[in-house]
Amino acid sequence: MTDKATLTIGDKSYDLPILKGSTGPDVVDVRKFYGDSDLFTFDPGFTSTASCESKITYIDGDAGILLHRGYPIDQLAEKSSFLEVCHLLLNGELPTAEEFAKFEHNITYHTMLHAQFDSFFQGFRRDAHPMAIMTGAVGALSAFYADSLNVDDPKQREISAHRLIAKMPTIAARAFQYSVGRPFVTPRNELSYSENFLRMCFSVPAEDWVPNPVLTRAMDRIFILHADHEQNASTSTVRLAGSSGAHPFACIAAGIACLWGPSHGGANQEALEMLEEIGTVENIPAYVQGVKDKKYKLMGFGHRVYKNFDPRAKVMQKTCYEVLEQLGINDPLLEVAMELEKVALSDPYFIDRKLYPNIDFYSGITLRAMGFPTNMFTVLFALARTVGWISQWKEMFEDPSRKIGRPRQLYTGATQRDYAPFENRG
Ligand code: SDX
Repeated sequence: MTDKATLTIGDKSYDLPILKGSTGPDVVDVRKFYGDSDLFTFDPGFTSTASCESKITYIDGDAGILLHRGYPIDQLAEKSSFLEVCHLLLNGELPTAEEFAKFEHNITYHTMLHAQFDSFFQGFRRDAHPMAIMTGAVGALSAFYADSLNVDDPKQREISAHRLIAKMPTIAARAFQYSVGRPFVTPRNELSYSENFLRMCFSVPAEDWVPNPVLTRAMDRIFILHADHEQNASTSTVRLAGSSGAHPFACIAAGIACLWGPSHGGANQEALEMLEEIGTVENIPAYVQGVKDKKYKLMGFGHRVYKNFDPRAKVMQKTCYEVLEQLGINDPLLEVAMELEKVALSDPYFIDRKLYPNIDFYSGITLRAMGFPTNMFTVLFALARTVGWISQWKEMFEDPSRKIGRPRQLYTGATQRDYAPFENRG
């Protein structure tokens, strides 16, 4: 492969270096192109644009491959734990036993929130969407950690990462408990990360809470599946917010806001509500026709990068079966989901557009079976993705060529004209 591209415009030619990755597409470096040509490149939605260099996650959309620091997602989901994956994403390597023990201790001892912070939730109505609470709460947490503003200090960056990974379950559980009117539950240091979260969500003071190892493992695996995903919309939001040197908690709040959208992390809630709307297998053909008539999208299907099965969807489907079996639940929506998947995968409309189930298609059925209401699904996604967001944010600060992100535009508005008083308008 050549090491440069030559762009010829009229009688001028521009040599653009080609930068090679360790795997996946190489890139044409256009950083100097505007300075040389007085032309911008144009790519709304970034369908053909690499926004940064990264070593964290690699996706091969055609082959349906997802690697975190080189490790395939199905192996991590099967053999690792969410906290171990957090260490891997943050630091680049699987930890030794000693490194893991130290990391787990650091996270465990940052799970509590400032006592004054609990009153923050009282400002919300009880029926506030938990994602609205998460966006506000995580942003507000920046007021409690002024030291984290020193983003150029690697030690402060590490402490911010640990605080965020540790406190997100406590905040998420509070958002849930507040919405259902139950008292807040304090984390317990003897519990694992996912056990602690499930206890903070589902325990009540009136009785002892007994962990269910199958549900704990399923929760941990669901967190692993959602941990990071290259330069998706919410990660790009965190990077862009962070590029100005903003407080890391405020940057994560921006990521939460972006993830909430139905085209992104909000799709898990929308996908379950879609299955509920379809209701029975008999209604699938009419619903699919509505998709083909472009009345609405098939939620939990399609992806900007995956043009094959989302490897996370396969693990999510397996986890769904395990949870439903463990709980003895026969959810009719699972039958609807499986039939809808079969119909869509055999229909040319979806085949031609390379639309396959993504991670959001089966997650809703699983989470509902575990006792979460649909409006908590994206909160769980945000909880898990926090490690991806903060790992990418940290990597950006470790890049010596870091600059504030400032895209340009193709301007098609009014050219210069003079102000006109009322009498000269209309
Ligand atoms: C996540 O980026 C990430 O990595 C995200 C994520 C992560 O981990 O961070 O993986 C998490 O966000 C998963 C995606 C969850 N969203 C959904 O399930 C919502 C439904 N999906 C679509 O909205 C859509 O597939 C997107 C937004 C995910 C991707 O859209 P693109 O890449 O911009 O593709 P497109 O909209 O240009 O679609 C191409 C064609 C269009 O048809 P035509 O105009 O060519 O006729 O496919 C159609 C679209 O109408 N299409 C769909 C469809 N998705 C795309 N048609 C029906 N149902 C769908 N779901």
